[in-house]
Amino acid sequence: MSEQLIIFDTTLRDGEQSPGASMTRDEKVRIAKALERMRVDVIEAGFPIASEGDFESVKAVANAIKDSTVCGLARALDKDIDRAGEALKGANSARIHTFIATSPIHMKMKLRMEPDAVVEQAVRAVKRARQFTDNVEFSPEDAGRSELDFLCRVLEAVIDAGATTVNIPDTVGYNLPHQFGSLIANLIERVPNSDKAVFSVHCHNDLGMAVANSLAAVAQGARQVECTINGLGERAGNAALEEIVMAVSTRQDVFDCNVDHLDRTQIVSCSRLVSSITGFTVQPNKAIVGANAFAHESGIHQDGVLKSRETYEIMRAEDVGWSANRMVLGKHSGRNAFRTRLQELGVSFAGEEELNAAFVRFKALADKKHEIFDDDLQALVTEASLDAENERVKLVALKVCSETGETPSALVTLKIDGAEKTATASGSGPVDAAFKAIESLVNSGAELQLYSVNNITSGTDSQGEVTVRLEQDGRIVNGQGADTDIVIASAKAYINTLNRVLVPVDRQHPQV
Ligand code: KIV
Ligand code: ZN
Repeated sequence: MSEQLIIFDTTLRDGEQSPGASMTRDEKVRIAKALERMRVDVIEAGFPIASEGDFESVKAVANAIKDSTVCGLARALDKDIDRAGEALKGANSARIHTFIATSPIHMKMKLRMEPDAVVEQAVRAVKRARQFTDNVEFSPEDAGRSELDFLCRVLEAVIDAGATTVNIPDTVGYNLPHQFGSLIANLIERVPNSDKAVFSVHCHNDLGMAVANSLAAVAQGARQVECTINGLGERAGNAALEEIVMAVSTRQDVFDCNVDHLDRTQIVSCSRLVSSITGFTVQPNKAIVGANAFAHESGIHQDGVLKSRETYEIMRAEDVGWSANRMVLGKHSGRNAFRTRLQELGVSFAGEEELNAAFVRFKALADKKHEIFDDDLQALVTEASLDAENERVKLVALKVCSETGETPSALVTLKIDGAEKTATASGSGPVDAAFKAIESLVNSGAELQLYSVNNITSGTDSQGEVTVRLEQDGRIVNGQGADTDIVIASAKAYINTLNRVLVPVDRQHPQV
């Protein structure tokens, strides 16, 4: 039996660092549950010192997850580590991940610290983290541009201090696969106590090499890969979990480690969940989880696949969960069936009132659409995932008029901070008219950066899921809305995003 490759998912932490991808506490719990269903080994739930909201999210994930290890990020500072330790108190299995930069440019320009002081602070941080848990990970940030001798020195010192995982980040996505692979091989060979820790990698995708670099490292002995669903993450993103996992499982002839412990049939639903919550849609030609990843268009390919699947397919669509979007509920399903399925999907309700409100929305949807799938349920919950106190703007009514040869118009009634207001506007289409009417009432001044519509399931009775991205004073915010009527879905998405824009944020970025 080959060794297991540890899959460390950082969708909720590094993924959330993508501009506009911020998630609420409940959304994070839902994604964490989906990752747990996939049997991901480690879930990095956030950066607890960043804000009260981040702390609460890590705490909620730590309390909700039973089978995966839950990890919290901390700079190599006492206050960060103590906060992470506190947030992770309720976890069945907790890890603290602490880091400090080790590249000459980061030490000089960002930290303004001498190398000796960096080593000292790294050691101190690991020792402090060990007071909370014996599962401690250390990352030399920007390792991909650090000097080899210095990296060896830091790693030896932190392993001696008690780090059980040492993670090598290519923070700015600068490395090429052959370089990164040999960096890992060199480190494992030259660090005298390298056998006392698991070597991990964390690659960014600035040159499109994140997955290739991670796999090159695995081939050289790395036994943990840090990755995110759909490759979400800072700038061009992180290594995509689905690509790492499927590369290792499909090419067992090459890798001497395996991912057999993962339930790979959860991949597609997890990808959809992350995309629907963050509003970061998946391109159709994206490997594994793109809509076309298993579609055979050309006649020659179709003929080949029909004669023998292996002619053109190296994986089976069903192995990654393409047919797993089960029809779960319908018009006659009761409250219990509804609650149970949502619980299985990681959604719990604060009380009967919240359950009743969601059930009313479900019944309204079931009246319009006879078969309700898991993805419909997820969208139903995503749409309502704002905390009540943060929902300052509510859609009361919308009427649009769209007719050939006429200018489309919209009549919108909103409840803003409890007061009902109505406006009309015309536009180049019904969605444009509705957005103009809404903005005339809210006066946010936010600029529309992205508007996209996707069908949640197939068929013309499918719900349309709309993503809206707004920018206000440099801050980017995404929101979603779903409905079988795409104009209403669009208005809901716009209002959802405006509500997020209207909530002030005060949050630290871990790497500045
Ligand atoms: O990219 C990076 O270096 C990170 C570290 C915090 C691991 O995200
Ligand atoms: Zn990163």
